[in-house]
Amino acid sequence: MAVSQPGLAAPTGPGAAAISTAHPQATAAGREILNQGGNAFDAAVAIAAALAVVEPAGSGLGGGGFWLLHRADDGFEVMVDARERAPLAAHADMYLNETGEPVPGLSLDGALAAAIPGTPAALVHIAERYGRLSLNKSLAPARRLARRGFLVTERYQRLAGWRLRALRASPAAAQIFLDGGAVPALGYRVKQPDLARVLKQIAKHGRAGFYAGRTAKQLVDGVRAAGGIWSLEDLAAYHVIERVPVKGTYRDVRITSAALPSSGGIVLMQILNMLQDEALEQLPSASRYHLLVEAMRRAYRDRALYLGDPDFVAIDTARLLNQGYADRLRAGINASEATPSDTLSAPQGEGTQTTHFSVMDAEGSRVAATLTINYAFGSCFLPPQTGILLNNEMDDFVVKPGVPNAYGLVGGRANAIAPGKTPLSSMTPTFLESPKAVVILGTPGGSRIITMVLLATLEFVQERGGPQDWVALPRFHHQYLPDTVVYEPGAFSAVDLQALHDLGHQLKARERPYGNMQIVFWDKRGNQVDAASDPRGEGLAWVER
Ligand code: DON
Repeated sequence: MAVSQPGLAAPTGPGAAAISTAHPQATAAGREILNQGGNAFDAAVAIAAALAVVEPAGSGLGGGGFWLLHRADDGFEVMVDARERAPLAAHADMYLNETGEPVPGLSLDGALAAAIPGTPAALVHIAERYGRLSLNKSLAPARRLARRGFLVTERYQRLAGWRLRALRASPAAAQIFLDGGAVPALGYRVKQPDLARVLKQIAKHGRAGFYAGRTAKQLVDGVRAAGGIWSLEDLAAYHVIERVPVKGTYRDVRITSAALPSSGGIVLMQILNMLQDEALEQLPSASRYHLLVEAMRRAYRDRALYLGDPDFVAIDTARLLNQGYADRLRAGINASEATPSDTLSAPQGEGTQTTHFSVMDAEGSRVAATLTINYAFGSCFLPPQTGILLNNEMDDFVVKPGVPNAYGLVGGRANAIAPGKTPLSSMTPTFLESPKAVVILGTPGGSRIITMVLLATLEFVQERGGPQDWVALPRFHHQYLPDTVVYEPGAFSAVDLQALHDLGHQLKARERPYGNMQIVFWDKRGNQVDAASDPRGEGLAWVER
C-alpha cells in the first residue's frame, strides 16, 4: 500500500488510492508501483505500459493519447497531448485514387494508415516531469508481462476475429497475435519478447530508446518496405505538447476535460451549456431524451464544421464555449420535433477498442488517460522485429470532405490531412469536481466517447446512483451525421422509443453494447473512495482498503 506518512500527506487528500483499468493485470501493475512509493503519475505510466502489452487491440507504444493530470500538492492541472501526428510526407489526398475517391481500407489497414506514435514519449515525459520513481521501475511490470505473456480472453478472440484478415496481412503481427494464422484459443499465451526489449530500451535511454537508434531505424525500414511514408526525421521530431485542459461548470460541478486536438472537452461542454437552464430531472423521460439528442446533434455539427488541430487551423474555442452561443443553439431546438441534421448548415468542402484508465493516489493526485491505436489492433501492421503494433489514427482525419470515417464522422478543411498535423480525436478523459465529490472518468468508443462521458456526468450531477451504476448505464448517442439516434438495448423504454419516433427521430438499436468506462470516485463528505469498471469489458477496479 502507498502508506501516507503522518505529516506528509495533504490534509485534504482521500487517504486511500484507487485504480480502474480495462485489464486486471494493468490494474495490478498500477498497484505494484503505488506499493513501491510511486504517485498517481508513476502508476499511470506503469498502467499505460502494461495495457500496451496485455490489451494490444486497444492501445500501445505504436499509438497515442491524452493524459489529464491533477497534482494534489498545488492543484496544478494539465493535459499531456501525446496524440499521433501525420508523417511529414503526408498530404490531403493521400488516400484518394486517380478519380478522387477514397481507396477502401487504405487509411485503416497497413503501414500507410499509421501516424507517428506518441505514447512512448508520454511515458518518458510523465515519469520524468511528474513521477517519483525511475522510468525503469515504472516500466518493469510491463516488461515482465511482455516476456512472460498474457492469456487470450473472449474479448481478445472477438477483436482478433474481427481484424483477422488485416492481421494475417502483416506476418510479424500474425506471428505474435495469431496462432498459426488463426484466432488463438482461450488461454493461449501471447508473448512479446521484442516489445519487452523496446520497453527496456526506453527505460534505459528515454525517448531515444524509441525515436532514435536501432528501434527507430527498424520502425522506419519496416513501414517503408510495406508502402508507408515514415522517415527518421518524423520520429526525431515527435514531442508531446502540454495543453491547458478545457474547463467549465455545470450547476455546481467543475468539469476539466480534454482540449483540442481532441474535440471531447469542447463538445461535452457545448452540450452541457445547452442544458444549463433545464430542470432535466423534472422533464418527462421522452422530452429529456429528445432535448439531449438535439443538443448532441448541434454540438457534433460544430465538431464537423470547425474542429481540427489548433496548431494548424484557427479555431474560436472561446466562442464555441460561450454561454450566449449555447443559448442561441438551445433556442433553435424545437420541443415537439426533431431537427433534421441536413437543415443545419453542413461543413463546407468539409467500439470498444482504445482504452481508458483512471487512477488516484492517497494524496489525491489523479490521472485520467484515454489511449489508443484507433481501431482494434490499429492498422494491424507490425514492423518486423520491433514488437510495435502500429496505429491507424490517420483515419481520424477527413480523408475526403463529407466522406464519413470509420466512426461515421464527417468533417472539412479543419481536419484535413497535412504534414505533421494531428488528427481530431473524440477521446474525453475528464475530471468532475463538486463540493461533495471528485470523479475521474473516461471510455473508449470512437465518436460515441463524448456522449458516454456526458450521460455519466449527468447521472453524477443529478446524484443518481454511484460509479457502478454510471459505468453500467445503458447509452444512446447522436452525432449529427448520420442523422440517427443509436442506442443500447435497455436505453429507452418501449413507450419512450415510440415517443422519440413520433417526434421524428430515426432510431437504431445497436446489437452489441459499446464502451468500456473506468471510474474512480472520491466522496469527500464521508471521505470514501470507490472505483468501478464497465461490466461490458474485462477490466478491474481496485480501491485501497
Ligand atoms: O481518437 C479518437 O477519437 C479515436 N481514434 C478513438 C478510437 C476508439 O475509441 C475506438 N474504440 N472503439
